[in-house]
Amino acid sequence: MYIQWKESLELHNDLIDTQHRIIVLLCRKLDIAIKTQESEQTVRWVMLELKKFVEFHFLSEENLMHEIGYPDVDNHTLIHTDLLHQLDLMLAKISRHREFPEDLLYFLNQWVVNHLVSEDMKIANFIKNTGREPIGKNLYAEYLHTSDNAD
Ligand SMILES: [Fe+2]
Ligand SMILES: [Fe+2]
Repeated sequence: MYIQWKESLELHNDLIDTQHRIIVLLCRKLDIAIKTQESEQTVRWVMLELKKFVEFHFLSEENLMHEIGYPDVDNHTLIHTDLLHQLDLMLAKISRHREFPEDLLYFLNQWVVNHLVSEDMKIANFIKNTGREPIGKNLYAEYLHTSDNAD
């Protein structure tokens, strides 16, 4: 079970959308690794790849919030930190066979979709309403080819 990328998940911010797409891509990769019965070690590496990217994305999103003067940055950061803590606990349980990679994938799928449409959407709306821009805004259009800069 994995998230299908869909229009409603687009926040129309090139940086955030690109990173969210990679998280969704890595969730699908984990789903495939589980279904094709890759070794326990291989599945573990894919889970770590996913967790590390989520961690990177959180830092990137937190930097973005600071750069645009987003008012709710502390609360949003706390939610991110809590998820990373939960993922660490799950990875430890999976190592002891108390939980399974499927559990982590299911949990993360739910979490990502909920967080994206509730919390992350607020950042996108703040940018839209205030016109505040992150450092190097023009770089995004130059290097990332998402729906908003397909030309
Ligand atoms: Fe977030
Ligand atoms: Fe996000």
